[in-house]
Amino acid sequence: MFYIGIDLGTSAVKLLLMDSEGRIVNIVSREYPLYFPQPGWSEQKPEDWYAQTMEGIRELIQDVDKSQVAGISFGGQMHGLVILDKEDNVIRPAILWNDGRTTEETDYLNNVIGRDKLSRYTANIAFAGFTAPKILWVKNKEPENFARIAKIMLPKDYIAYRLTGVHCTDVSDASGMLLFDVKNRKWSREMCDICGIDMSWLAKCYESYEKVATVLPAVAKELGIPETTVVAAGAGDNAAAAVGTGTVGDNMCNISLGTSGTIFISSSRFGVDKFNALHSFAHADGSYHLMGCMLSAASCNKWWMDDIIGTKDYAGEQKQIEKLGENHVFFLPYLMGERSPHNDPNARAVFIGMTMDTAREDMTQAVLEGVAFALRDSLEVARSLGIDLKRTKICGGGAKSPLWKKIIANVLNLKVDVIESEEGPAMGGAMLAAVACGEYKDVKEIAEKVVKIVDTVEPDPELAAKYEKRYAEFKQIYPACRPVFENLA
Ligand code: XUL
Repeated sequence: MFYIGIDLGTSAVKLLLMDSEGRIVNIVSREYPLYFPQPGWSEQKPEDWYAQTMEGIRELIQDVDKSQVAGISFGGQMHGLVILDKEDNVIRPAILWNDGRTTEETDYLNNVIGRDKLSRYTANIAFAGFTAPKILWVKNKEPENFARIAKIMLPKDYIAYRLTGVHCTDVSDASGMLLFDVKNRKWSREMCDICGIDMSWLAKCYESYEKVATVLPAVAKELGIPETTVVAAGAGDNAAAAVGTGTVGDNMCNISLGTSGTIFISSSRFGVDKFNALHSFAHADGSYHLMGCMLSAASCNKWWMDDIIGTKDYAGEQKQIEKLGENHVFFLPYLMGERSPHNDPNARAVFIGMTMDTAREDMTQAVLEGVAFALRDSLEVARSLGIDLKRTKICGGGAKSPLWKKIIANVLNLKVDVIESEEGPAMGGAMLAAVACGEYKDVKEIAEKVVKIVDTVEPDPELAAKYEKRYAEFKQIYPACRPVFENLA
């Protein structure tokens, strides 16, 4: 049998075909545009997602026996607001996870409703990218659109809806809406009342590995797959990536170096970070996790390479870097503001420390190190909660770089386990589909059988000590810049 994993990302949709034994049969990727209509805003068109997903599936399965396709599932970019009217028209472009327009609404929720109440109802506080502040933004700034809302969806759930006709979501992705009672894995009536949301607008919520429905007959015909093909609820991309890298069970860690950068810590028990700096969400394996999310990770390197120095030769640029732990240049990676742990949509990227002998490779190195230091910020919050981690998995486009993995291992002082494929969310999506189809008993079983560690990058004590000093310096830069960011905003 074949299982399709759909990673509905920010720069592209990545599709992965997996067989019953967990072998990757094919991977394809299709890009779509990302719109920045105003500084700090970030939007995409749900119709683009669907068109590229369908094209991608066609290409993915063109050379296999399509009658063997048994299941489809997802890892999807989280928090995005998709709104449909009663005729199922998309009302406005989706407002994405890295959009920072909701400062007013976020402040209202955190300060007027109050962090304590939010944390009690949802296990989290408001961050600009979360879904509830965006709904409030539409209510306040686009009342004519708000009046038309009949359904609220998350990005991957729009695809599931088009494939099955069922308005569904899953517990991990629902957790990032600030409308979900994470502990009890159900919608929060209190939060819906606070945001003026009719609960009928919300989807039916499933565990990530549960079957939602089979594909619509028209979809089966269009793709040439059986009408019995199962669609499973899937997960937010980070929970799906955790499944794809075998980060299931207690106290396991995965770092994702995609457009965003996340540090994901699985937990068998529900828990809330008392500082609310880390997100407390449901996991796709039926349990929970804590997560720190930075808004720009591999995207910082992409921006620096593609847009600023104008090259596609990432490996060639990185080859010039020799002096790890000794860079005099620092980079704050806040190109889209920052989520964890600062919760500051006004934060901006900064290079600091250049001198006349600063070279291009020092700047490139600073970008890679800046992302690692910012991940360390979230790791430090986890450590302050008594969470003791010795190792982590890694996935995402940035995980292709051996140098970046070495920097991360040493800045975070963690052993970094490298998986056979860095396609975390797409692999996790396919694995969730296989569980929904009964091919494996549960997420733990498939993770144990399928995920293979092929290498481990160990921190070097001398280099880790050098980075410890650099991190202490890095930590001073954001607080010093914060008043300037506020003024610039
Ligand atoms: C997680 C988050 C990002 C997106 C990226 O909270 O906002 O990781 O899911 O796709």
